[in-house]
Amino acid sequence: MAVQVGTNRRVTMASRPEGFPQESDFTLEEAEAPSAGPGEVLVRTHWLSVDPYQRGRMSTARSYSKGLELGDVITAQAVGEVIESNDSRFEAGDLVLGQLGWQDYAVARGGALRKIPPGIEPQLALHVLGATGLTAYFGLLDVAQPVPGDTVVVSGAGGAVGSVVGQIARIMGCRTVGIAGGADKQEDLRDLYRFNEAIDYKAGDLRAAVKASCPDGVDVYFDNCGGDISAAVHARLNIGARIAICGQVSQYNVERPQPTFHPGFLIVVRARMQGFLVSDYAPRFGEAIPRLARWVMNGDIRYRETVTEGLENAPRAFIGMLNGENRGKALVKT
Ligand SMILES: NC(=O)c1ccc[n+]([C@@H]2O[C@H](COP(=O)([O-])OP(=O)(O)OC[C@H]3O[C@@H](n4cnc5c(N)ncnc54)[C@H](OP(=O)(O)O)[C@@H]3O)[C@@H](O)[C@H]2O)c1
Repeated sequence: MAVQVGTNRRVTMASRPEGFPQESDFTLEEAEAPSAGPGEVLVRTHWLSVDPYQRGRMSTARSYSKGLELGDVITAQAVGEVIESNDSRFEAGDLVLGQLGWQDYAVARGGALRKIPPGIEPQLALHVLGATGLTAYFGLLDVAQPVPGDTVVVSGAGGAVGSVVGQIARIMGCRTVGIAGGADKQEDLRDLYRFNEAIDYKAGDLRAAVKASCPDGVDVYFDNCGGDISAAVHARLNIGARIAICGQVSQYNVERPQPTFHPGFLIVVRARMQGFLVSDYAPRFGEAIPRLARWVMNGDIRYRETVTEGLENAPRAFIGMLNGENRGKALVKT
């Protein structure tokens, strides 16, 4: 017999944001909670992810994934508890990860859910042991391919992806330089994530700061931001540099993205620049997660979370994250 769970609160897109998103672009709706059909699992969400890519889903620009329509529940990974299962691999009480959206209850095919092993804090599956940690892992090790002694510069270094990139680069024997906005994040970069150098892109002359922090030039640039930050780092690239294009968060709310380089500069420094998507590495997640877990357990990778309480506050958390208010991973606790 189907489990009755009552009302489902969900955050939907009320209007397509123009420029910087506003809270009025979102609505909190109530609907009847879904029930699990054949092969499906009903999940009560506990932790919701807040990510820059969600901004792209709200736009009509060409992307790697289908965008949201007005009235759709905001796409998000979430961690929750199985309430009812029509898939023999799951039972009530299991903690699972899935693309469940910003809502109290969601139904998913069993094959689209991943069980969270006991003994870890479940929300880590949304960041350091999940999408953002995996993005850092494959983007750095597979795309940028650092070698010991390299100077690795990371933009967005105080956030979920960037903080892990810096720490993996440190584990690999590289010299790490993090770029992030504001004094609090400089403290995180130096004291928590142990970057060799921290740069505040909001303070002073960025090009001069990159030059001073990278006296031997830049071998690897892990680019989360684009824009002026990238232009400043490009100016210091060494011959044979590798640039992993992970994200361009400085451009997500502008109408016309700002060009940051002329392709000729890749010839001058014989550099390789490559964009990547973490989802393309899904077949290899199994090799990365145990390694990330070991690094977290032995303290080689440290993390920080900015937790907003309440599903109804998810839009505020999202706008805050785009404004740089998050230190480490932005999460909502429902
Ligand atoms: N390729 C992939 O598969 C993949 C997967 C996951 C994430 N990503 C990308 O990775 C990047 C980081 O994602 P995340 O989840 O770790 O987010 P995050 O860094 O935890 O949060 C976003 C951060 O962006 C920074 N930011 C906002 N506006 C900016 C601007 N104009 N200039 C410079 N920085 C700005 C803010 O930090 P400050 O306070 O320092 O400004 C903010 O805290 C994003 O670009 C995202 O799209 C890519």
